[in-house]
Amino acid sequence: MSQGSSVPEPVTAVMDTAGAWLVRGLAEVETGLSEAVDRTGDLADRGTATLSAGGKRMRPMLVILCAGPDGGAPTIRAAVAVELIHTASLVHDDVLDRAPLRRGVPTIFSTDGRQTATSVGDALFAEAFGLLSRSGDMESVGTLSSTAVDLVRGELMQRAAAFDMELSEADYFTRCQLKTGSLFSAACVLGGQTGGAGDLEAMAGFGARVGLAFQLLDDVLDISGPADRTGKARGTDLLDGTVTLPVIEAIRTDESIAGIGMRDLDETSAGVLCDRIEETGALERVRSRALDLIGDAKSVLADSGLDRERVELLELVADGVVLRYS
Ligand code: FPP
Ligand code: MG
Repeated sequence: MSQGSSVPEPVTAVMDTAGAWLVRGLAEVETGLSEAVDRTGDLADRGTATLSAGGKRMRPMLVILCAGPDGGAPTIRAAVAVELIHTASLVHDDVLDRAPLRRGVPTIFSTDGRQTATSVGDALFAEAFGLLSRSGDMESVGTLSSTAVDLVRGELMQRAAAFDMELSEADYFTRCQLKTGSLFSAACVLGGQTGGAGDLEAMAGFGARVGLAFQLLDDVLDISGPADRTGKARGTDLLDGTVTLPVIEAIRTDESIAGIGMRDLDETSAGVLCDRIEETGALERVRSRALDLIGDAKSVLADSGLDRERVELLELVADGVVLRYS
């Protein structure tokens, strides 16, 4: 995918395969997002810029696909709400990370400061629940609210473990499940709740695994770069003190990496550490674990009771997560 492209490859692959209902649904999501952002008044221009900065709309796509062709207005509202929560969480994450760039463009934090960025995130977050509650989609409100709590818990877990080179793999996976897996999982469940038949537990399991794979590959990309592909500097996680699976894996091969003082890193030494992590083969091992998760996700899907068309499309989305990083 090229940075800033409005329709990235994994998305076009699914759209080309799906019937008109998916394309129509995604177009309705864009309209719903614009309307939601417009309701934020003074903050609308920052929200619009963030929403149009090259997001892949993977979560709304999962909502629509899990709902199937029979998903109507409640499915679209759920898809819009999921993307609003996702966007709000990224805007807040950029405040906490003091991030200059996201998806290759300056963050609201960097252009407008902490207060405005926090307010934009709050407004998008509130809009998500306003949209669902005004329409009486109370089951969706419940699903999304517990996921929003997961996101916050995952983020806090990450902050609490900052600079901890002894972070366990189990804690890493719990954090990733909370901060990323949960929203992917909720997207699938919301589709199931608002649309056609299907086993909600299987949909949740599929989404959680795809989300975990997505996070693992995102963490690989932080180390591997290149910056012009990721839209942020190589080693940004390391500079933030975020210990990820590539670091945990690298330490297994080269224990001396555990002795590196992450607090003392600057951009140059973070780049050197990225190279050292890469030399251990850790990135390949984490990529392979992500691929295993995608395989598991597809197995779960096979038991979901979804029709063949939806299974194939969801498999394409799962493959798209990997494709983006290959
Ligand atoms: C990005 O991941 C961040 C998240 C997936 C979650 C952020 C959650 C919060 C800030 C809690 C607030 C939540 C709500 C609902 C408003 P990352 O930091 O691993 O990736 P990055 O490299 O894209 O920053
Ligand atoms: Mg971050």
